[in-house]
Amino acid sequence: MDNRPIGFFDSGLGGLTCIAPFTATLPDERIIYFGDTARTPYGSKAVSTIRSFSFEIADFLVQSGVKMIVIACNTVSSTCLYDLRARYPELPVLGIIRPAAIAAAAEGRAGKKIGVIGTKVTVRSGAYEKQIRELQSGLTISSVACPALVPLIEEGILENNIMDLTVRHYLDDFISSQSIDTLVLGCTHYPLIRTNIEKLYPKLEIIDPSQEIVNSICRTLTENELAAGPNIAGKDGQGATQKPDHTFYASDLSENFINMIDRIFAGTGFQMAFKSFDLDIGK
Ligand code: DGL
Repeated sequence: MDNRPIGFFDSGLGGLTCIAPFTATLPDERIIYFGDTARTPYGSKAVSTIRSFSFEIADFLVQSGVKMIVIACNTVSSTCLYDLRARYPELPVLGIIRPAAIAAAAEGRAGKKIGVIGTKVTVRSGAYEKQIRELQSGLTISSVACPALVPLIEEGILENNIMDLTVRHYLDDFISSQSIDTLVLGCTHYPLIRTNIEKLYPKLEIIDPSQEIVNSICRTLTENELAAGPNIAGKDGQGATQKPDHTFYASDLSENFINMIDRIFAGTGFQMAFKSFDLDIGK
């Protein structure tokens, strides 16, 4: 039994899409989340920049006493997973590409035409094609980068015409020219616009990897005997079980970030703290 928190991070609020299924499946685990809202988006930056941002955040999570690091960001997972594993050999470090590939290559999908959407860096890395092909050879896979989606989502521009037009700009031609029937949301921000995509392309099967990363966290906790015990926050004065407390750090604690977290946890009874993290920019 290990009651230390699990550290999640992303370039911004995209990684929060993994948190809802996570707390539903593992309600006794405590979270420290870091969103690098001051430097988002990562998806069009140089890999060396992404690596140094990721090291800075992961060092902070490790100093905060986490028992595991979850890279809730495809861009970082596709480029820096092995660097982060080498930096913290004592901790499990999980990326999201493998779980997403497992979801995409699930049984019954042979012969499907899989489309992967992600950031420029994720698509350029070829990580999805490689991982999905390793798991299942009979699939056709194509990818397209959609760099304008993350900045719009971070601005809270979601269910409206601007988002719909932007989605169509990237996907209309991609889906028809490649005859895509299954679309992998290869960026943790994209589940936040799933309804836009479903409305525009109702016949597509959409794969959202967030539940699969939770399955992977469960397996890792069990294999490493790291699972938290129940009631980690103890009992309140009336003897009722308290829910664990979660801490959310942002390098720019924006209203949108806080509102999104409030929306995810509304009515769940979890205790939440919001903290600003001052980046030592230019040190
Ligand atoms: N959520 C990140 C990902 O999954 C966002 C990338 C970005 O900051 O551009 O790739």
